Amino acid sequence: MTLKFVVMSDLHLLPEGELSLTLDTSARLERAVDEVIARYGDADFCVLAGDLADTGNPAAYERLKTIIARLPIPVHITLGNHDDRQTFLDSFGAQFAGETGKVDKVIDIKGYRIILLDSSEPGRVDGVLEANQIDWLIARLAEAQDRPVIVILHHNANALHIHADTIRILEPDAFIAALKTHPDIRQIIAGHVHLTSTAIWHGLPFTTLAGGHYSVSFDVDRPEVPLRRLEGPGQMAVVVGTPDRTTVLFDDFINGNSVIDTVHV
Ligand SMILES: [Fe+2]
Repeated sequence: MTLKFVVMSDLHLLPEGELSLTLDTSARLERAVDEVIARYGDADFCVLAGDLADTGNPAAYERLKTIIARLPIPVHITLGNHDDRQTFLDSFGAQFAGETGKVDKVIDIKGYRIILLDSSEPGRVDGVLEANQIDWLIARLAEAQDRPVIVILHHNANALHIHADTIRILEPDAFIAALKTHPDIRQIIAGHVHLTSTAIWHGLPFTTLAGGHYSVSFDVDRPEVPLRRLEGPGQMAVVVGTPDRTTVLFDDFINGNSVIDTVHV
């Protein structure tokens, strides 16, 4: 009984005819969907980890709905800083709002609990987990003390020694303390930074994936140096879980390392 799921993040969809920088983000998502159909049609589900729409435009959410309808597996969704929660809920339906009021969710499958947390906060680029979300997380972890847990959210909580460290979850202490109430957190997976990374922090395993939009090139511990946006890779993560092992693989469904421009966050 092997758990397998795909994580996509940072789709940054726009209305028809609009490009993001030089990138056609809808075409990139179409390629991601083609990749899932070709290679992961037997996966248990797909998670979209936020920044679904580049500017929260209703037409972008409708476009998303149309493109992901081709996915042969269930889709679970949470939001990022580029999203507009109300516009998303108007388009996808109020049932996507969790009991916290944000787009949080629990998935119990094949001996695992997967928890999606909505770290978006209107008007902010950095990430926020509200006190009621932390309480909800602690309660959901308490129910699953006998199972491994994977947490997925848009914003990275851990600093990565890069220019974008100013826009992560800037007050992560309550989040870390909540995670520490569980004995078997297998992964905390985020998008947001458009970069692949893994880390151990407070004894917990943190991963970020590059996602579907531009990727970035960076300078370590030189916050004054802006990031360079790259055409690729366009990347999804593939998570494989057995009782004793949780593996995160990265599938670069679009390659490319041409610099588009530099970015100061
Ligand atoms: Fe993003």
